[in-house]
Amino acid sequence: METKSSVSSVLLVLSLYSMLFNFGLGSPASNNGKWKLLKKSIGVSSMHMALLPNDKVIVFDRTDAGPSNLTLPQERCRKDQICYAHSVEFNPGNRNFRPLTISTDTWCSSGALSQNGELIQTGGYQLGERVVRHLKPCVDCDWIEEQNGLNVPRWYASNQVLPDGRIVIVGGRFQFNYEFVPKSKLYSLPFLVETRSSAKVPNNLYPFVHLAPDGNLFVFANDRAILLDYVKNIVVKKFPVLPGGVSRNYPSTGSSALLPISLVGQKSTGTNYQAEAEVLVCGGTVPDANLKADAGVFVPASKTCGRLVITSANPKWEREEMPINRVMGDMILLPTGDVLIINGAAKGTAGWGVAREPVLSPVLYKPGNKKPNRFEILSPTTIPRLYHSTAHLLSDGRVLLGGSNPNANYNFTALYPTELSLEAFSPPYLSPSSKSRPVISWVRPGLELSYVQKFVVRFRLNYEAEKIYVTMVAPSFTTHSFAMNQRLLVLDTGNVRKSSAKKPGSKSNYYSVESYAPARPELAPPGYYLLFVVCEGVPSRGMWVRIKK
Ligand SMILES: *[C@@H]1O[C@H](CO)[C@@H](O)[C@H](O)[C@H]1NC(C)=O
Ligand SMILES: *[C@@H]1O[C@H](CO)[C@@H](O)[C@H](O)[C@H]1NC(C)=O
Repeated sequence: METKSSVSSVLLVLSLYSMLFNFGLGSPASNNGKWKLLKKSIGVSSMHMALLPNDKVIVFDRTDAGPSNLTLPQERCRKDQICYAHSVEFNPGNRNFRPLTISTDTWCSSGALSQNGELIQTGGYQLGERVVRHLKPCVDCDWIEEQNGLNVPRWYASNQVLPDGRIVIVGGRFQFNYEFVPKSKLYSLPFLVETRSSAKVPNNLYPFVHLAPDGNLFVFANDRAILLDYVKNIVVKKFPVLPGGVSRNYPSTGSSALLPISLVGQKSTGTNYQAEAEVLVCGGTVPDANLKADAGVFVPASKTCGRLVITSANPKWEREEMPINRVMGDMILLPTGDVLIINGAAKGTAGWGVAREPVLSPVLYKPGNKKPNRFEILSPTTIPRLYHSTAHLLSDGRVLLGGSNPNANYNFTALYPTELSLEAFSPPYLSPSSKSRPVISWVRPGLELSYVQKFVVRFRLNYEAEKIYVTMVAPSFTTHSFAMNQRLLVLDTGNVRKSSAKKPGSKSNYYSVESYAPARPELAPPGYYLLFVVCEGVPSRGMWVRIKK
């Protein structure tokens, strides 16, 4: 008969909690974020991850690693009669998942969400190296594989959606060039030859590609960056080397994010709005970490970050240090505009069996704060996520984590076993000690927006907010610690109207915020975005909107 005493001890704990809280001693560790195991196993290790506009998450692995822990129904076996699944559609809402069929190898491939909401995945290995695969966001859809969709093999390439809605695919192993989906010409890119640290350990694979506000591509490889006019195939700018002797791309794998682009002020300039853009690059390791790991020496990963205003006339890297060394960290933009650095290891490098000391604690980076108050260490998980792990923002504001398989096949006895689980991390803004969330009630005139268009976001809040802003996040395609096509816009807003709830006794306030869609496709390519209202640092759930050309 434990009930009575446990009830009273719960009450005691609760009142102690509220005493601490009321006396301003702060809340317990819960405001450092919270972890939740969503699925112990989805049967497939999540090497690649994408979010579709129907809120389903698509994960897939390589398909040549032998059996997974999930079988395909007989009628949906692979073309080669193998009946193990290597891709899954996961529903974060009810945690259900279903197997998907891929017949050609997707090992270390890339992808992007197209402007019509279809996932477009490119390349892979061997029979998959020139395949373009399509997956539509619908109830029973499965992968459709387009043979020879690419001009050349793409293994370890990076993708970006372009202002005209096409997708560019940059680089890949032994590919010093770029091309497009839909397929057209191949263009050479000597920068990818120049940035190899040696033939064996290139350190410039999965280059970091970001679309700059002038429509050019920012391409970062190893420790160098250029601005590329991909139409004319000319390098319009060479940025300074990121100093420090650290390589940032595979296999020395750091990560990179385009920091939030502010469109505040856009309503007075319209389509001529000149946005500033900054890129943040963090972590990675020395160029020869891979060779050293092969010899049994696991060198500490880098703590360093570089931050660069890529739109500046005279750009200079601002150097910063993370509180924890990290290689293979993912950088995920949160709806607030902060950056979550998550997953990875403190020693070694990317590859099979070559990393040690998993970093279990994510770190929050607040780009708007002054140095040295930008980093904050958050609560740790218990599950190492090393090579071949992934992260993605969900529309509810949590971050989904999956994968980790630093082994050649599915191996549950290795030092770091193949990880088939999915976890969700709730950032501090979702903790009970944070303010309650704004709730979007509608967007008018509708969820399809055109460029520069004024629209109104109506939301409900149970307190009086002073700091209100509206953001828009492009869903990414995440693999190998890089969230391709990730992009966050802080929208320009106009009048904010407030009305109190009509129901007596209700504390809700209703707000209507005039907002402006991005001015040009160079600022935000056409396609699907998650729209958030952020009040006092706490975001609403995201609402899917679509910008049409
Ligand atoms: C995967 O399958 C293997 C072999 O059947 C089994 O030993 C292992 O426990 C399974 N792992 C998970 C996480 O389901
Ligand atoms: C799992 O990994 C260990 C350590 O690398 C290795 O000795 C073992 O042979 C692997 N098992 C399988 C089934 O591949």
